[in-house]
Amino acid sequence: MPTTSSAPGKVYLFGEHAVVYGEPAVPCAIERRASVTVRERDDDRLRVSADDLTLDGFTVEYGVDGGSPDVDVPTPLIEAAMGYVDASVAAARDAAGRPQAGFDVEIESDIPLGAGLGSSAAVVVAAVDAATRELGVELAPEEVAEYAYEVEYEVQEGEASRADTFCSAMGGAVRVEGDACETLDAPDLPFVVGYDGASHDTGALVAGVRALKDEYDFAEDTVEAIGDLVRQGEDALAEGDVAELGRLMDFNHGLLSALGVSARSLDEMVWAARDAGASGAKLTGAGGGGCIVALDAGDSTETALSLTPTCAEAFRASLAHEGVRAE
Ligand code: PMV
Repeated sequence: MPTTSSAPGKVYLFGEHAVVYGEPAVPCAIERRASVTVRERDDDRLRVSADDLTLDGFTVEYGVDGGSPDVDVPTPLIEAAMGYVDASVAAARDAAGRPQAGFDVEIESDIPLGAGLGSSAAVVVAAVDAATRELGVELAPEEVAEYAYEVEYEVQEGEASRADTFCSAMGGAVRVEGDACETLDAPDLPFVVGYDGASHDTGALVAGVRALKDEYDFAEDTVEAIGDLVRQGEDALAEGDVAELGRLMDFNHGLLSALGVSARSLDEMVWAARDAGASGAKLTGAGGGGCIVALDAGDSTETALSLTPTCAEAFRASLAHEGVRAE
């Protein structure tokens, strides 16, 4: 029997970019999941296929010591996905003490890629969980989070915060500040996501903010202001005060704009959501393009976003209380 695990994507309620400089951030898991099915092989090869990474499907196969795959990898995004799966499988081999284990791996995901919704972290978390369970090892979600963080850290060459992997493994709302991660009590937040159809280069956007911060004091102050806002947001979350959370999301978007990481497509979706009556709206993740997140319990924001020219897809994505799970 193959083993399947799934793990959720996430939105940033508050704090992206500032989290890179040690400020706290609050990502929230959402009900859009990646699912990874793993079957142990009787040789040491790894065969990976993905049918639904919002891209054309692909299949590649190679040996445990084989380095890169022996086929042309179709796009840089798929190449990136392969790197994550490869490292996740290596982590599972380590965890189980089975360095030569071979696998067939199948990925399905309904999380847009590279758009600020934590698609790679969800694939890594689900892959680590499924591959370890397939080898007879049961990890606690905190342990899956730790392995998954190490995978992202390696693949992203040191440019990874713990936010995405911890949030995806644990589910719900979480708080991340440096290496300290904790889960938070949160009400059922009515998230609506608008997606402009683009993917962004997180590394380049992070480098841009770092350069701005080095050149201008205002950018340094803006990062600190985001940290203050996150701390106020935590109080609003604990009180379940959705109106206040929305106001703070609006402020957070303004501060991210000041750091130069918004885009016309994102601003138009943010304003469409606000005009439709959302409690608040902001970009989520690195910015530049990708997704915005709004809070609205009714249908008006989703409808307004779907009519916004810069919005390719709008969907409701409520808080996922469950993190990684066996399917
Ligand atoms: O867009 P994403 O999901 O890659 O999120 C990036 C979040 C940043 O804070 C900008 C970077 C990070 O590693 O925390």
